[in-house]
Amino acid sequence: MSVYLNGQFMPLAEAKIPVLDRGFVFGDGVYEIVPVYSKKPFRLDAHLRRLQGSLDGIRLANPHGTEVWRDLILRLIELQAFADQSIYIQVTRGTPVEGQPLRDHAFPKGGAPTVFMFAQPLVTATTQQKAAGVCAVTAVDNRWLRCNIKAISLLPNILMRQQAVDAGCAETVMLRDGYLTEGAASNIFAVKNGVLLAPPPSHLMLTGITYDVVLELAATHGIPHQVREISEAEVRAADELWMTSSTKEIMAIVKLDGAPVGAGAPGPLAQRMDGLYQNFKQQVMRA
Ligand code: PDD
Repeated sequence: MSVYLNGQFMPLAEAKIPVLDRGFVFGDGVYEIVPVYSKKPFRLDAHLRRLQGSLDGIRLANPHGTEVWRDLILRLIELQAFADQSIYIQVTRGTPVEGQPLRDHAFPKGGAPTVFMFAQPLVTATTQQKAAGVCAVTAVDNRWLRCNIKAISLLPNILMRQQAVDAGCAETVMLRDGYLTEGAASNIFAVKNGVLLAPPPSHLMLTGITYDVVLELAATHGIPHQVREISEAEVRAADELWMTSSTKEIMAIVKLDGAPVGAGAPGPLAQRMDGLYQNFKQQVMRA
């Protein structure tokens, strides 16, 4: 498998970084995950804009302009043997140059960021998995206040998601001060009385590219929707709950903390939105 590291494409086994890389030592970096369908990247510009926002958020200069990023990503996609991919992009603050302290929290002077990218086969949910839905648990969102930065330092998200796995579930739905924020690795939507509810983008969550597409599709197809704060009581009384992400797409949560969500099966709006999303993907692939 070919990966990209600092200007070169190479086999995965040859990709090596210095142990003092600040990504390794401090988790000092940001990332993106771009889904690719039939070798066509989905919403690449939006992902590159979000990457720019994350880099700005950690005060790291973007090593590449949009055209260079696009070219590198398209080349990485072409090098893979499989058609549906999930492209992982990581930029760290790099390794301190000689003469700099080996480890200092403050930014090192000089040096260059580390840019690493690899592709994995994108495995989306089967029809059977979608028909079954998944279970989720809730937890208090104990992350920092800059969750809109897609930072590689993911310890809180890791611990949150493991809580779900330990409970035999797919996701942890996080609540902060009594309101829904997002999932450990996804955005969360609720449906009540036919109205799609989405928490408003803020520093308390990562605004997913999938989240944006879902709201665009709701607007285009006349599905009633509200972007507003959603209380814990509303989450627990929702007719439907969905998790969304580039890799999970739209997945119905049918059980929350052991209690059925709505009728305890994927609801009609989840099924409709999944259909719209799949059609939208087809259009992108044909473009
Ligand atoms: N995560 N919120 C969090 C905390 C996430 O980690 C993700 C996705 C999302 C959804 O974003 P998008 O729709 O752009 O994928 C929201 C990726 C898939 C991951 O870290 O694996």
